[in-house]
Amino acid sequence: MTPADVRSLFPILNERAYLFSGGIAPASTPMRTALEHHLAALTYNTGDLYPRFMDETRTLRERVAALLGTAEDEIVVNDSTSTGSSLAVSLIAPKPGGNVVFDGFPYPSSVYPWMLPPRDMLERRFVQPRAGLIHLEDMERAIDDNTVAVSVSHVTPAQGFRHDIAALARIAHDHGALLLIDGAQSAGGLNIDLHATDIDFFATTAMKWLLGPAGVGFLYVAKRHLERQPPTAGWVSTVQTDMEQLRLLPSAERFQLGMPNLMGVAATLPGIEILLETGMDTVEAHMLDLTGYCIDGLQKRGITVRTPRNPTQRAGVIAAEIEEAGALQPFLTSIGVDTYFLRNLFRVDPHIFNNREDIDRLLAGIDEFRSSQ
Ligand SMILES: Cc1ncc(COP(=O)(O)O)c(C=O)c1O
Repeated sequence: MTPADVRSLFPILNERAYLFSGGIAPASTPMRTALEHHLAALTYNTGDLYPRFMDETRTLRERVAALLGTAEDEIVVNDSTSTGSSLAVSLIAPKPGGNVVFDGFPYPSSVYPWMLPPRDMLERRFVQPRAGLIHLEDMERAIDDNTVAVSVSHVTPAQGFRHDIAALARIAHDHGALLLIDGAQSAGGLNIDLHATDIDFFATTAMKWLLGPAGVGFLYVAKRHLERQPPTAGWVSTVQTDMEQLRLLPSAERFQLGMPNLMGVAATLPGIEILLETGMDTVEAHMLDLTGYCIDGLQKRGITVRTPRNPTQRAGVIAAEIEEAGALQPFLTSIGVDTYFLRNLFRVDPHIFNNREDIDRLLAGIDEFRSSQ
């Protein structure tokens, strides 16, 4: 599938320049069809759905594993990035005198689980950026033999900065620390091979770059950690024998509790199939072309861009600063351009279904807005 083929599957693009994939994905026609089939099955063939749930979630797990470069039994299907991050933290034993290392751009759901007892006793270290970038050598200086974990977003949402997670994994492991990655802004946008990077945990959501719905998420747990004791247990996590013995499954399913969100599972598969059929190398290259093109266009207009120009340090998120954000946002929405603003932060997140014309429409919109002021 070419980027143009993918574009034809997203009806919103006939109307609007949708540039906010780092927030929430628009529905594709295959997603709508899958939801309609699911609803028909739920209405008229309900009994069939119950035994089928195992097959559907297994297919989803297998497709996510193919996309992220993992084994199928290392994928937990859950409901969000935050759930995955929190579960990963709960699998790591605190140690007296220990510390956890974050960068200066953490997402709250990566930090808060460490503030709950008993892990609140760990020192929390934040490595601040220099000239807008997190430097690997600064991370390395903060990590020591008392570090139990290093936790960063693969791509940071308010800067669009991309970490070299393979290098971070090497540094963390040299000190006996584990590496937790929040992949909400990278899975489905970047060509990721988690086995090659050798990280320990990777949490993400279906609703952004994976082109799925909210309410479905995934946690990758490296095989070497699958024996860890889950904080909770349900019927899906166990070999169901008797009530005298708790026998947890050897796979990542041991971290799941009950019936998953079947409608969400149905809605998630089509987006992942689209990405697999397109090829993640094509998706990444297309996205980097668009983000580079957009950064140039914004900078030409004197706009401060926080995201690095170097393609190895960015992904699909472009973060910029615009003082007139409060008035620009409704103007762009009114001319059919969807971006994101939070105070003076301006975000543009192009995906495989966008093209340079979408970016041109955004840039022309900014020009038009400014000339009308
Ligand atoms: C880096 C990052 N992590 C986590 C989240 C939240 O994801 P979820 O709602 O799946 O927990 C976001 C949402 O924008 C994000 O950008």
